[in-house]
Amino acid sequence: MPDLDGRPVLVTGASGGIGGEVARQLLTAGADVIAAGRSAGALAALSEGTGMRTLTFDLTSEDSVRDALADLDVYGVVNCGGNGGEIATPMETNIDVFDEVIAVNARGALLVTKYTSRSMIRLGRGGSIVNVSSQASLVGLAGHVSYGSSKAALDNITRVSALELGRYGIRVNSVNPTVVMTPMSEWYWGRDDIQGPFLHQMPLGRWATEAEIAAPIVFLLSDGASMISGVSLPIDGGYSSR
Ligand SMILES: NC(=O)c1ccc[n+]([C@@H]2O[C@H](COP(=O)([O-])OP(=O)(O)OC[C@H]3O[C@@H](n4cnc5c(N)ncnc54)[C@H](OP(=O)(O)O)[C@@H]3O)[C@@H](O)[C@H]2O)c1
Repeated sequence: MPDLDGRPVLVTGASGGIGGEVARQLLTAGADVIAAGRSAGALAALSEGTGMRTLTFDLTSEDSVRDALADLDVYGVVNCGGNGGEIATPMETNIDVFDEVIAVNARGALLVTKYTSRSMIRLGRGGSIVNVSSQASLVGLAGHVSYGSSKAALDNITRVSALELGRYGIRVNSVNPTVVMTPMSEWYWGRDDIQGPFLHQMPLGRWATEAEIAAPIVFLLSDGASMISGVSLPIDGGYSSR
């Protein structure tokens, strides 16, 4: 188990399925976890009796992100807050949904990077940022024109941030998970006509669990990953290697 040794790590989307598990595993790894989302109630339920700190802000508002993060000292960040958008072809897409998905998944993660990297640089102890992207940025997935585009933008934010922040000892990486059956995904990926054909093409042939996404994220935050920066790591049972 990696040792995060009391280092403060911000997790956005901590009130969700994957973010909640990341927060719990980070706590076990010894981090000082700051669990973030919009719902104070959901964060209270996650953090009760654990010692986690909580923070509420809206990823779509620069004022909200700046007010929450400008004076926060952090070593690590997990950009896990996300919006699943819609399933639609380019011919039928609702462009307002495209704007909304980009605003949370790409623009929101960049805003968090903007304000937290300033504090990492000021503290001078390096740091690690992990962006929770998706297999949808690595391959074209039917119906995923908005969501996949937002995660491809996020992967580019990862690469450029790794270039710009490396001189301060700050590493930036993406993880690109396959489907985890959270409320964001199960209404679509749980359908028999979608699930069967997809899993048939995946070498490991099953969906991921929250724990299987959280463990590589904790690793990327830890000193065990001290020479890894700028990567997009598939956690997809081999799907994108076909
Ligand atoms: N589930 C999958 O199959 C899958 C696969 C690949 C990648 N991912 C990615 O993994 C991440 C977590 O997904 P999940 O399945 O755990 O989703 P989830 O359970 O629906 O959680 C989404 C989280 O994002 C937060 N969020 C959404 N909009 C926000 C906003 N405007 N401001 C602040 N927070 C906001 C939610 O907070 P509130 O409680 O305030 O709504 C919630 O904590 C996402 O980035 C997703 O794209 C998921």
